[in-house]
Amino acid sequence: MGLELYSKIEAYLDFEDEVYSLHKEFMTFVMVNELDNIIDIGCGQGYFLENLKINGKKAFGIDLSSEQVKVCLQRGVDAQCMPLNEVKEKYDCATAIFDVINYIPKKPLKEFFKDTYNVLNEGGYFMFDVNSLFGFSEVADGSLTINKEDIFIAIDAVYDNEELNTNITLFEKQESGLYERQEDCITQYYHDKNSLKKLLKDAGFHVEKIKEFNLHGYDQADKYIFICKK
Ligand SMILES: C[S@@+](CC[C@H](N)C(=O)[O-])C[C@H]1O[C@@H](n2cnc3c(N)ncnc32)[C@H](O)[C@@H]1O
Repeated sequence: MGLELYSKIEAYLDFEDEVYSLHKEFMTFVMVNELDNIIDIGCGQGYFLENLKINGKKAFGIDLSSEQVKVCLQRGVDAQCMPLNEVKEKYDCATAIFDVINYIPKKPLKEFFKDTYNVLNEGGYFMFDVNSLFGFSEVADGSLTINKEDIFIAIDAVYDNEELNTNITLFEKQESGLYERQEDCITQYYHDKNSLKKLLKDAGFHVEKIKEFNLHGYDQADKYIFICKK
């Protein structure tokens, strides 16, 4: 579903400042609430896990992309490529940061929230972000090309009917000097606040707070951050 190709292009997307501001929001919550044992679901290349480690927290990450997990291990953080329902340990906090929930279609999301509930200790927190409708239709929708010496990337994202379909094309220079073309599509799903609240409640969570978050500097919130308690 395009996750491995996303892993190859992530470093070129120039989202460092945005990711930093989002991670800071999550880290502040972890520190203020003195949460010590954290599972980062959809940990990507392990930036948040690394920050948790620096702050003396016990942290484990999972991701469905083996390429992302390889980068985590090179970074020296603890991560595995595995589905959430195979995690056996229990944690004080689960995080799912930077669009992870948007990757999950409506039906499997119900199971995903139940699985998250099951990996938490009693009183544990689940914190995640999702794109608002504005975030999908006005911010994410659009095209982008990145042209570097050995790499060319074309991204075309179209939001329609509650789905954002992002086509990624990558041309990568090989040792022979020829360019190899790779192509894939990632689908992200819009979940409105009320349907999320219902799914979370059905899974057993109490939704403590839903915070508007402005990731890309527009005058409307492009994300919501949910804080839920078991
Ligand atoms: C945009 S990246 C964000 C990575 C990281 N959380 C961060 O803040 O930098 C989204 C990640 O979610 C992962 N992902 C998508 N669906 C997932 C799922 N159901 N379970 C675990 N990881 C998932 C993708 O492979 C990708 O690494």
